[in-house]
Amino acid sequence: MAKILDGYDPQAIRVAAAALRSGELVAFPTETVYGLGAAALNERAVAQVFAVKNRPQFDPLIVHVPDKEAISLYATDIDNRAQVLMERFWPGPLTLVLRKRPLIPDLVTAGLDTVALRMPAHPVALALLRAADVPIAAPSANPFGYVSPTTALHVQDLLGDAVGLILDGGPCAVGVESTVCALTDEKALVLRPGGVAVEEIAAVIGPVAVASFSQADARSPGTLPSHYAPHVPLSLLAPGADIPRPLPGERVGLLLLKPRVNITGYTVMEALSQDGDLMEAAAHLFAALRRFDTLGLERVVVESVSELGIGRAIMDRLRRAVVRTPHAGNQSRFRL
Ligand code: TXA
Ligand code: MG
Repeated sequence: MAKILDGYDPQAIRVAAAALRSGELVAFPTETVYGLGAAALNERAVAQVFAVKNRPQFDPLIVHVPDKEAISLYATDIDNRAQVLMERFWPGPLTLVLRKRPLIPDLVTAGLDTVALRMPAHPVALALLRAADVPIAAPSANPFGYVSPTTALHVQDLLGDAVGLILDGGPCAVGVESTVCALTDEKALVLRPGGVAVEEIAAVIGPVAVASFSQADARSPGTLPSHYAPHVPLSLLAPGADIPRPLPGERVGLLLLKPRVNITGYTVMEALSQDGDLMEAAAHLFAALRRFDTLGLERVVVESVSELGIGRAIMDRLRRAVVRTPHAGNQSRFRL
């Protein structure tokens, strides 16, 4: 089992930084989800990340950096859009895809000529980046295809045998992954909606394109239709639809945006936010899906939320959690 250390303890940061530098994997908190980190320029360490996650090597990793200046070490053609986006949203849940410099191993970028870079906002992540003094390649710390972890214990449950050290930084405040925005073409393209709303990006750099859900974009394989999926089947209600009544004897869960009265027949009901706040809902989403997964339910009915702001990322994750097309990661022992 992995050792869980308090990420706010400077001694733990020193231990974790030394482990990373010597090529070991360290799981650490970010403001979005927990990451499974490896020294990004160490190919053996990066290969270990793919192995532990059972992640196909065509799916590139995000490289985490300690400050804005660092990106020019790893990327080229950093234009004004990148500058203003970093100014406005870094540190924070925005990942920028830019042309890569040759020192980034091909394994990190899955052979693409671009690299995804992000400066996380979590104090423990930043402390680790500074102490390690190497860029950290880190996907979410879950087996490929499963729901991302938002606490240290989730990581322990999912990868505890395969990772030596987990830094505990408490529950993640944002709860869905970073927005991935490619700046390699004239028109900025959001490949994955996430913690920074598309509207907020557009307010800074003008109109942006958003990759459509159905298009499994080769430029961002994390956008495969089936992803972020619990084992229990989900049915996603159409926006504004009435809540259906389960059949007698059926063990069904209900996941709501906010509490409702007069609903019966469900084995268990949970609301993501007491007052329907989308930010709060995002922060609770993955933990709620995990809880439903442990209850022996036949299925879970999920209410749609508005696509505004972070609601777009919530709906993106829910749609992918519903789809059950087999893909490379589904053979893992974590899938039923
Ligand atoms: O919030 C987050 O982004 C978390 C934390 C740990 O930082 N990380 C995360 O990593 O979600 P991961 O590996 O689960 O998702 C990374 C996404 C994938 O959709 C991947 O395809 C995309 O970023 N990506 C990485 N490098 C890319 C590149 N060069 N071009 C396009 N997409 C890229
Ligand atoms: Mg992931």
